[in-house]
Amino acid sequence: MISSRIIGTGSYAPKKVLTNHDLEKMIETSDDWITERTGIKERRIAAEGETTSDMAAKAAKKALEMAGIEPNDIDTIIVATVTPDMDFPSTACFVQNKLKAHKAASFDIAAACSGFIYALSVADSLIKSGHSKYALVIGAEIFSRITDWTDRNTCILFGDGAGAAVLAKTTGKRGILSTHLHSEGSSWKLLCASSHEENAKTFIRMQGNEVFKVAVRALEDVAIEALEHNGLKGDDLDWFIPHQANERIIVATAKRLGVPMDKVYMNLQKYGNTSAASIPLALDEAVRNGKVKDGDLILLDAFGGGFTWASALIRW
Ligand code: COA
Repeated sequence: MISSRIIGTGSYAPKKVLTNHDLEKMIETSDDWITERTGIKERRIAAEGETTSDMAAKAAKKALEMAGIEPNDIDTIIVATVTPDMDFPSTACFVQNKLKAHKAASFDIAAACSGFIYALSVADSLIKSGHSKYALVIGAEIFSRITDWTDRNTCILFGDGAGAAVLAKTTGKRGILSTHLHSEGSSWKLLCASSHEENAKTFIRMQGNEVFKVAVRALEDVAIEALEHNGLKGDDLDWFIPHQANERIIVATAKRLGVPMDKVYMNLQKYGNTSAASIPLALDEAVRNGKVKDGDLILLDAFGGGFTWASALIRW
């Protein structure tokens, strides 16, 4: 049976670090408050002039290098982002040009923080249906540009970055076992950003408390859906790599799933919530530092604005 397997990962985070102590000088907050409520200690901020596609292309080059393939081998590029370079063309088209991946079809997916798993699912389907042989899936965001730096409820949470994965056609047992995607548009007001309203600046608007509650429930539901679909339990997982939004959300979800914290991969303390980039940033780190090993069972789990939520179960 044809399926898809991740054969390379890469990531990129801008150089500039913004710590909680830096934020103390900008707004009424404290390192203690941010650490206790979110687990975040610092985040990265893109340089002036640096674009989402710049970061995406850098992450992609590392993923291609690990995969051992050339840009010309790629036939599909999907970028998950809600902070694109322009309204159009897609950020994926800019990436295609920067990589000189001349044979690739390119498009973006907007599913906020669930975007990477949505993109992974589409790429997996394109490979299974025979439309694609090598697909490049990227999550890349510059949330610092849509953050209101005077709003302490939101500006402490987000950061910039990119992560990428190369998917290849396989017939072996390793690879993407399943993906599950969901959305509920009626709750859009609880987490959104818009540049399309009159006089609007593109700032994130969020009701944190409400988002928190829904996120934990949705992350649990879609994780269980993935496990049950494959006849597995939380116990069977080697790694749980959830969207890196908030340590308390992750701990609560892991507890409900019965996954011990030493099997949960977290790097949000260094990057904050990088939206669609958070899972591939964490996955690439876990692969490169040798935590993720061949044959491991990995569950990716995400929740974001929309609302959207999604999971992917992978035999590495
Ligand atoms: N520093 C200090 N105090 C702050 C603060 C900050 N940065 N931000 C808010 N506060 C204050 C509030 O004003 C409030 O004060 P009050 O009681 O005097 O009104 C108090 O802290 C508690 O606020 P509340 O919003 O209830 O805190 P919380 O425990 O819910 O934590 C979040 C706030 C945002 C950290 C939390 O709700 C959260 O993480 N939600 C999920 C957000 C998320 O992950 N979104 C993306 C999903 S993809």
